[in-house]
Amino acid sequence: AAPGWTTTADVVVIGSGIAGLVTALRCRPHGRVLLVTKALLDAGSTRWAQGGIAAALAPDDTPAEHLADTLVAGVGLCDEAAVRALVTEGPDAVRRLIAFGAEFDRAADGEIALTREGGHHRRRIAHAGGDATGAEISRALLAALKEAGIEVIEHALVLDLLRDGAGRAAGVTLHVMGEGQPHGVGAVRARAVVLATGGLGQVFSATTNPEVSTGDGVALALRAGAAVADLEFVQFHPTVLWLGDGARGRQPLISEAVRGEGAHLVDASGTRFMAGRHELAELAPRDVVAKGITNRMRETGASHMLLDARHFGAAMWERRFPTILAACRHHGIDPVTEPIPVVPAAHYASGGVRTDLHGRTTVPGLYACGEAACTGVHGANRLASNSLLEGLVFAERIAAAIAADPAVPGTPGAAPARAALLGPDARAEIQRIMTAHAGVIRTGPGLATAVRELAALPAGAEPGVAAWEATNLHTVASAIAAAALRREETRGSHWREDFPDLSAAWRGHLVTRLAGDGLT
Ligand code: SIN
Repeated sequence: AAPGWTTTADVVVIGSGIAGLVTALRCRPHGRVLLVTKALLDAGSTRWAQGGIAAALAPDDTPAEHLADTLVAGVGLCDEAAVRALVTEGPDAVRRLIAFGAEFDRAADGEIALTREGGHHRRRIAHAGGDATGAEISRALLAALKEAGIEVIEHALVLDLLRDGAGRAAGVTLHVMGEGQPHGVGAVRARAVVLATGGLGQVFSATTNPEVSTGDGVALALRAGAAVADLEFVQFHPTVLWLGDGARGRQPLISEAVRGEGAHLVDASGTRFMAGRHELAELAPRDVVAKGITNRMRETGASHMLLDARHFGAAMWERRFPTILAACRHHGIDPVTEPIPVVPAAHYASGGVRTDLHGRTTVPGLYACGEAACTGVHGANRLASNSLLEGLVFAERIAAAIAADPAVPGTPGAAPARAALLGPDARAEIQRIMTAHAGVIRTGPGLATAVRELAALPAGAEPGVAAWEATNLHTVASAIAAAALRREETRGSHWREDFPDLSAAWRGHLVTRLAGDGLT
């Protein structure tokens, strides 16, 4: 649709999680920043983050050890320079987050309290409100945003990238609903566009992600011709609360920190099945635990496994994990007196829009940050609690890169021509296809079926938010299924039953562009 209104800014930031908020705050001293977000400011994934934010803050910890754990979890596909930036800049970035007003839990000596999660050999996860870390970070950053007077448009779904005659990003088109702000389809002209749109968990039926996580940034980047990488590495969190077979939508997360504090995974007979599968048992990297749970469910024919933390006692549950305690009790489970039924669910896209160490994508003037990006820090499997840290550290890097780049785009051309849109009903069908064929366990024939069934979904719907979202989900799901079909090995969170081993031939990244894909 042709834009009905136009506004301008120096920088337009799309998304209001930690990545978008920190980028906006850090860009503010250098010019006019407009932050747009698809729903309300706190509707994205950041506010749901439980476990915390990882950084080598303890006296007995070092960035080098954090680097080593991150590289092991990423199974040979991390970009070491990106991880080095993450872990060395991480501790001070967390301190700057505290300066923005985020209040982390403190130990008796007043130092930041640190816990463990899967794949970490040290206590290095800072948390807030017990298990409400994301909510506290979101609260503090939103207060800072308000104080900085940064302009915001809510209920603004990003549609497409605008580019000038030389191909440089020159702004975006948006569809805005709501009162007291521009309405309908319009354009924002800007010299820098930052995609901080979050994840794509809604591609699957059951996910820890909120409704808004529909891969909008990755889909936009693909339409704009930007390179996207590592999409096959969708991470499944080992433990969400099992709500019965066929549960759909956002599922209550049971943080890894519950295992970090000593909870055990057991099967129906009470056997601790992770012991013997990995030296870290329940605290192995999360792909290993998700596979362990899935395997044990298959071996025993069970619909779920159990997480036993009764030994924490009521006081510790109330103090350390109040959010999880309330969620379990809401669903009729009391973790103080009974084990929690758990299953894995789609959680995090380790891949995304390919960037360099300053968040620059392959399109000049277009940046990507946080879950929407593939900076190279996660490789084939993200280490627990590195995601908030990535959003934080790379947001600061992107703001520095934008400030240092004086380039101004020319007049934008029209938005890319759109193929026909899928209807709102396609969303459930995409989720069914991806859950059946591209979930925790994948096979060549199953993935080929996914590719075929996705391609056969009918298009031709009228424009509207639900149709645009369904089309984004379809673009992203098709790219995930194609990449997963191509990668004939098992690595990190990509588990091919027909290719069960790691293969040196596949130690590279699958880079997807809408016009084709290739291994680099
Ligand atoms: C959790 O609390 O288990 C989630 C942590 C993460 O995804 O990094």
